[in-house]
Amino acid sequence: MACCHADFAALEGSDRGFTVGMPTFTFGPGVLAEAGDNAAALGLRRVALFTDRTLAASEHVAKVKASLASAGIDHVVYDEVVIEPTDRSFHDATRFARESDVDGYVSVGGGSVIDTCKAANLYTSQPAEFMTYVNAPIGAGQRVPGAVKPHIACPTTAGTGSETTGIAIFTLTSMNAKTGIISRRLIPTIALVDPDVTRTLPANVVASTGFDCMSHALESITARLYPRRLNPAQGIGRPVSQGANPFSDALATQALTSVGQFLVRAVNDAADTEARTEMMYAAMLAGVAFNAAGCHLPHGLSYAVSGLVKDWQVKGYPEGKTLVPHGMAVVLNNPSVWRHTAFAHPERHLKCARALGGSTSGATHADAGEVLAGRVVELMRAAGMPNGLTALGFEEAHLDALATGAEPQYRVIKNAPIDVGRDEIRRLFRAALRYW
Ligand SMILES: NC(=O)c1ccc[n+]([C@@H]2O[C@H](COP(=O)([O-])OP(=O)(O)OC[C@H]3O[C@@H](n4cnc5c(N)ncnc54)[C@H](O)[C@@H]3O)[C@@H](O)[C@H]2O)c1
Ligand SMILES: [Fe+2]
Repeated sequence: MACCHADFAALEGSDRGFTVGMPTFTFGPGVLAEAGDNAAALGLRRVALFTDRTLAASEHVAKVKASLASAGIDHVVYDEVVIEPTDRSFHDATRFARESDVDGYVSVGGGSVIDTCKAANLYTSQPAEFMTYVNAPIGAGQRVPGAVKPHIACPTTAGTGSETTGIAIFTLTSMNAKTGIISRRLIPTIALVDPDVTRTLPANVVASTGFDCMSHALESITARLYPRRLNPAQGIGRPVSQGANPFSDALATQALTSVGQFLVRAVNDAADTEARTEMMYAAMLAGVAFNAAGCHLPHGLSYAVSGLVKDWQVKGYPEGKTLVPHGMAVVLNNPSVWRHTAFAHPERHLKCARALGGSTSGATHADAGEVLAGRVVELMRAAGMPNGLTALGFEEAHLDALATGAEPQYRVIKNAPIDVGRDEIRRLFRAALRYW
């Protein structure tokens, strides 16, 4: 868009526009009770209800089931979703969907549940060998050729924004690397975003998912600008994630303002309805933003951290399972990345710091990285995040393995505002070992 901001001035050969996909969404307390009416309006008669084992017995799933029943919609429940899903767990879910003979899907859960539901819907509606739709270079990255069935997504965490995105993330077990499937066809048909669900969220989940939301917004604003995208494909060849654009800027800035004001309150007090509601709304806004703009280094580096960690468990996540919550893995790389990328777009980094509530008075362009990193560190400390990768057991000797683990993520990493190679990535991990 050449008109509204100098940042987006068209260049020779650059894309002439940007496309934003999103579901029809309803936001507000109690809207889970509208699931049945929405399913009926979509013409559904029998749906697969996806959730995880913890949530299966929750009031949230009960509300959705009651709503479906009162609208006369038959449902079958799949509660075997794996938290931080894998290709295997996507396969299991797809088998269930194939055998269930349903005409639509309802997901009630966090990103793990919503993503698993998207994958089961995809492979049942458009059958293909699994790697066909997985992002290149890990998979074949082929375009989804046709429609999938209607999907009503009901998020129960305030972070991933998966209810708004055409993205399904999983760990490819054979490579021990996270990757995903991206297509506008995976965007849920309807999102019912009910902040009442956040009352039951453990503090650690609020913190990790809140930082995921923050990083989606920060990465949207600091991504390579869409006219400077390396792949200038247009029309239907335009990728889902196209680089920073005026629309994602607006939504992401609003999300950062909420994160700066409400994240720490939401973590510290489950009864702080205002803070938890604001975080739920921020996560949805940041989801629409990063779906259109794309993530970059913090997400790319996080996948190596989550793949290589040994013996790390967090209260509020499945007991006995070694797992770094996605948002925690992402935020641990944040300050290191902002110190490195700020020189490319200092104004954008300062704008992010300001939106997050950081003090930017008197800050020059040269200070931008430090100012943003400093504000993120303040929030990390206040919300009880670990002090860098060292806290998770990583040290100097692991830097090569971390840099190698990030290599499959070059598709995301190329969306960064500057080019980075293996040496820079190693340096970014070193700078993320300890922050205070
Ligand atoms: N598709 C996307 O656009 C996208 C974006 C970011 C992250 N992700 C992916 O999403 C996954 C992470 O999802 P998440 O962070 O939402 O968490 P999650 O779905 O993994 O759930 C985390 C934990 O919180 C519990 N939980 C969820 N809602 C609850 C509630 N209301 N009350 C009590 N407990 C609750 C779950 O049972 C689980 O133990 C990762 O695989 C990540 O890579 C996807
Ligand atoms: Fe994320």
